[in-house]
Amino acid sequence: MRGIAGKTAVVTGGASGMGLSTSMRFLEEGANVVIADYNPETGAAALKHACDEGYRERVRFIQTDVAEETQVAGMIDTAVREFGSLDILFNNAGVGGAIGPLTETTTEDWDYSMDVLAKGVFLGIKHGARQMRRQSEGGAMINTASIAALSGDGGPLVYSAAKAAVVSMTKSAAVELAPDKIRVNAICPGFIVTPLAALGDTAGTQAAFQRAQPWPEHGSGEHIAGAALYLASDDAAFVTGEHLIVDGGLMAAGPELSRRFPKTSGRNSRYSGVTRGSTGESPDLRKLD
Ligand SMILES: NC(=O)c1ccc[n+]([C@@H]2O[C@H](COP(=O)([O-])OP(=O)(O)OC[C@H]3O[C@@H](n4cnc5c(N)ncnc54)[C@H](O)[C@@H]3O)[C@@H](O)[C@H]2O)c1
Repeated sequence: MRGIAGKTAVVTGGASGMGLSTSMRFLEEGANVVIADYNPETGAAALKHACDEGYRERVRFIQTDVAEETQVAGMIDTAVREFGSLDILFNNAGVGGAIGPLTETTTEDWDYSMDVLAKGVFLGIKHGARQMRRQSEGGAMINTASIAALSGDGGPLVYSAAKAAVVSMTKSAAVELAPDKIRVNAICPGFIVTPLAALGDTAGTQAAFQRAQPWPEHGSGEHIAGAALYLASDDAAFVTGEHLIVDGGLMAAGPELSRRFPKTSGRNSRYSGVTRGSTGESPDLRKLD
């Protein structure tokens, strides 16, 4: 891989979960990393962890609320002041936000969720693009969306709407910023075991997802870090406006007919051959042992 050594990355939500995994991976790959997070305690712990791993010279933490424009601008300034540039921006911070029946969702619930999940990404793109443009060498932005953006039943209504906005902003920004060689992509994680995903129940939720997900192992922050590294690297030099699904085949499974009709479809089918629909011709099926 044409790597990211020597480049400077800002990772929002970098103190926990997939943001922390990505911060550590970027450091391992030789990048400078600014961890930006709302939570000063986990932020301090993440900074200590990175320093203990030997990255003291190349890592910083700045407490940041991504929903506050001045703080987002300050986060970008920190990267430039500390390391001289901004080459990679991972707009990843997030919360579950509004839950429950839509008939009970208040405008305050809506506003908080949208502020963090959608406005936060917009502000990151806005201020990241200003800095990357100034440097005239382009850059890479990665936004964390979700499979919730892609169907009507992948998450709560407001969360799904916010993540759909992230996918949409990713495409619009990719088009607008392409002349500046700023690539903008999104990652749509499936179920990833992180503190956020564990807040609800945990073992039960994990088990349910694992039943629905074709891949036999659970998703981890490292899986997202690998995808983020690819999108940040020059190996993705012609990839922009994309949303990369990283979900162990959850979305690919779609209506899951092979699970619902195990005797006639997929790898468990007892037959092989062709059916001929309404042609009036007989199917040609071979019974498998
Ligand atoms: N875990 C999953 O299954 C899953 C699936 C799809 C998408 N996502 C998305 O992935 C991203 C990372 O989530 P995670 O699972 O690693 O969760 P996490 O809770 O482990 O990490 C999220 C981080 O974002 C920070 N944060 C929250 N609000 C913030 C704000 N206003 N400003 C700055 N930082 C803020 C939190 O403090 C936390 O450190 C989120 O955008 C989430 O919506 C998660």
